[in-house]
Amino acid sequence: MARLAKYDVISIEDLSTGEIEQIFALADKFAAALESGTPSAIAAGLIMATLFYEPSTRTRLSFESAMHRLGGAVISSADMQASSAAKGESLADTVRVVSAYADLIVVRHPYDGAARVAAEYAPVPIINAGDGSREHPTQTLCDLYILRRKKGRLKGLTVALCGDLKFGRTVHSLIYALARFGANIVAVPYGGMNVPDYVLERVAAERNYNFSTVSIDELKSQAGGLDALYLTPSAPHQMALFTGEMPLERMPSARPPAALDAFYVTRLQRERLAEKDRAQAGFALFDARALRTSRAQEAVVMHPLPRTDELAYELDSDPRAVYFEQAAAGVPVRMALIAWMLEHRERPAAPAARIEPTLVFKGEPEPRCVNPACVTRHEGPYLHPRFRLARSANRALLSLRCEYCERELRVEFVGHATARRYYRFDENLYGYVRQWIDEGSLAVFETVKQAEESGYEPYRRGPQREIMNAAEIAAACNTIAVQIIADVADPTALALVGVISHGTMLALRLRGLIEAQTGVRAPCAALDVYGGDTAIHTIEGGADFDVNGRTIVLVDDVINSGWTVQRAMTALWHRGRPAAVKLAVLIDRGHRALPIRPNYVGRSIPTARAERVQVRLGPAAAAGEPRRAPDRVVVYSLVESLKEPESPA
Ligand code: NCD
Repeated sequence: MARLAKYDVISIEDLSTGEIEQIFALADKFAAALESGTPSAIAAGLIMATLFYEPSTRTRLSFESAMHRLGGAVISSADMQASSAAKGESLADTVRVVSAYADLIVVRHPYDGAARVAAEYAPVPIINAGDGSREHPTQTLCDLYILRRKKGRLKGLTVALCGDLKFGRTVHSLIYALARFGANIVAVPYGGMNVPDYVLERVAAERNYNFSTVSIDELKSQAGGLDALYLTPSAPHQMALFTGEMPLERMPSARPPAALDAFYVTRLQRERLAEKDRAQAGFALFDARALRTSRAQEAVVMHPLPRTDELAYELDSDPRAVYFEQAAAGVPVRMALIAWMLEHRERPAAPAARIEPTLVFKGEPEPRCVNPACVTRHEGPYLHPRFRLARSANRALLSLRCEYCERELRVEFVGHATARRYYRFDENLYGYVRQWIDEGSLAVFETVKQAEESGYEPYRRGPQREIMNAAEIAAACNTIAVQIIADVADPTALALVGVISHGTMLALRLRGLIEAQTGVRAPCAALDVYGGDTAIHTIEGGADFDVNGRTIVLVDDVINSGWTVQRAMTALWHRGRPAAVKLAVLIDRGHRALPIRPNYVGRSIPTARAERVQVRLGPAAAAGEPRRAPDRVVVYSLVESLKEPESPA
């Protein structure tokens, strides 16, 4: 029996242009065979599994139909809510298990980069049937196949992409492919639904490709619309749309207006919008009027489907409407992909050159991806974020690119893992950072506090002064404990949550003081504001820390902008519904950027922004141990990074 090689199709970029041509040639054959009723058995004995964690009609059914048509068999979990995923099984475990039941797995998943994770863990090939808002490569194969059949070519075509270009994964894969085949793109997004930067940067960096964006109104209006579409010959794939107001000197190289070859309309991806944005998000109806402009006479109308309210039914009878043909192409094109995988047992070298190596972070903390829909934020403890240096050539900004979802993380503070020094990143450090990457000694931090909590010292600091000594800290803790007891009617409903690490130490001290006075030992938890969804850990007692119905006192050492508290509140709300949340801080610096006011304050100390307040507490020394350094709070000024950082060696 034929077996498939481990050839994953996660991105349309995993297939070379030549490979796509081969697949299309096979699709032509299968389309003809389907037409004439000639059966195929080339996949006899093979089993395909379809794992769909999101709804699907076309993609799953056409994949399954394709496999049946090739004589293969299909096992399916169309609703992963009815599978072990509902019990909390990880994606990695599921695909490893299913690999024992099938020779090929087709996955659709709500998280960006999920298909890549599946490919890393499954020994059998994975085909991405849509991962969050990232990519949907086989839809692009169908789109290109129909577009080429209708227009006879792809090179030089002009395609208007309309709709939700931000979350539309079919659009992202299509952009990469159109750029590669030398077609021109005009982006026509719904308000706020522009093509994401990471997609634009990718085609710019890898294909030297750019395209312009126009508003729907411009597109619709005769004056600023398609009659004014120009190609600039200096850069063949650069498209600009000039309105009547555009000064003439801005278009010296303009050639006669180009015709539009296709509209690719997409629905608003409502399920990927936050609740609050859903009501406001707008869409535009694409109807027959859009085809009446002279430049659009020959344009075909495409849509990956399903349509909701953005594509008028009146277009269905227009011969230029090809969306049902796109959907129908799903079978021969997916048959062709499977057949092609059967023919190509040897995986050739990856087509896209890996420009930057994966970064290795030896020291804690591991940076996390900024994209809340990134698979690394959801797939629990086994999946570690992975980054490369971003493609940007700007040496004044340090950005890392997530390997799973491709979003960029801007880094403000960097450190050297052996020297244990941190710096605010600037252009002068770029060369050093490259060197630290090569040595594997780069550390990155979201804040100064995170750097210091991780045991890093500033590269240089100004003179420091003590603002609280051990006795003053003890007195402040006492005052806070007394206030909490006076405030909280029922001490048994109280629970303390300390922000790691000094907030946690303070929370434990407050608990001791409260217990001494009331006899009630409140549950206590540690909260890691950099820890994502699994941020709260019970400190002791074994049982899961329960926030529901409790009066939570959130404890931190210093409050400044309020950013940490905001993150901590989000983590608490993830965990449950407390009756009340109060905030206790040892020091209030008063530089609030957010409307947050602590309920209990040890001391208010107005400080300059460039100053750093550092609370130094130690755990109580056990009997027989040497005396630890006394508790103290110090203030020092941060000296920004210098031209020449001292050699970390
Ligand atoms: C698309 C998808 O799921 O991304 N549908 C499809 O596969 N044909 C488009 C969409 O849902 O809007």
